[in-house]
Amino acid sequence: MSEIKVIDKVFEPSITAAQIQKRVSELAVQINRDMVAQNPLFLAVLNGSFMFVADLYRHITIESEISFVKLASYDGTSSTGVVNEVIGLNKDIKGRNIVIVEDIIDTGFTMQQMLKTLAEHHPASIRICTLLQKPDKLQVPIKADYVAFNIPNLFVVGYGLDYDQQGRNLPAIYVLKED
Ligand code: IMP
Ligand code: MG
Repeated sequence: MSEIKVIDKVFEPSITAAQIQKRVSELAVQINRDMVAQNPLFLAVLNGSFMFVADLYRHITIESEISFVKLASYDGTSSTGVVNEVIGLNKDIKGRNIVIVEDIIDTGFTMQQMLKTLAEHHPASIRICTLLQKPDKLQVPIKADYVAFNIPNLFVVGYGLDYDQQGRNLPAIYVLKED
C-alpha cells in the first residue's frame, strides 16, 4: 500500500483491508455468541457504515434483521443550534434488541443523539458496534460494546469513511498525512 491523494490531501496507509476483514469477522463471532436467540435488529447508520455493515452482516449467522437509518442535521429555529433527527426508522423497535452499527465514534455526539432518539421508542436493549473509535476525542460518556479499532485523534478515510464525500470506496483505511 502506498500514499494516495483524495481531492487536495495526501493520505497514508493505516489499516489494511486484510486487517479490517479479520477484525470484522471477529466482531461477528462475538455478536453471534452474545445475541443468540435475541433476534437482534441491526441498525446501520448511513452513509459511513455501509461497507462495514455489509461485511459484518455476511458473518452474522444468528436469526436477525437489518435496517438503515440516517441522521439529518439541520439548523434548528430555536437557540439550540444544529438539530439532529434520525430518519428512516420505519421499524417498530419497541421491545427489540438493537445493535447500532456506526463507522466511527469521534466526539460521540452523533451516537449520543442516536441513543436518545432510539430510547424514546422503548427497545429492550441497545448495543453499539463501531468500526473505529477515537478515545482521545470522546466528549460524552458512551461505551461501545464492539469496537473494531481504536485509533489516534487523526482524520481517516476509506472503507466507507469520506473526505468531502470522496474516498468511501477504498477497501482499506488511510490517515491524513501531517506535513
Ligand atoms: P461524532 O463526532 O462522534 O459525532 O462523529 C460525527 C461524524 O463525523 C462521524 O459519524 C463521521 O461521519 C465523521 N467523522 C469523524 N471523524 C472522522 C474521520 O476521521 N474521517 C471521516 N469522518 C469522520
Ligand atoms: Mg457516521
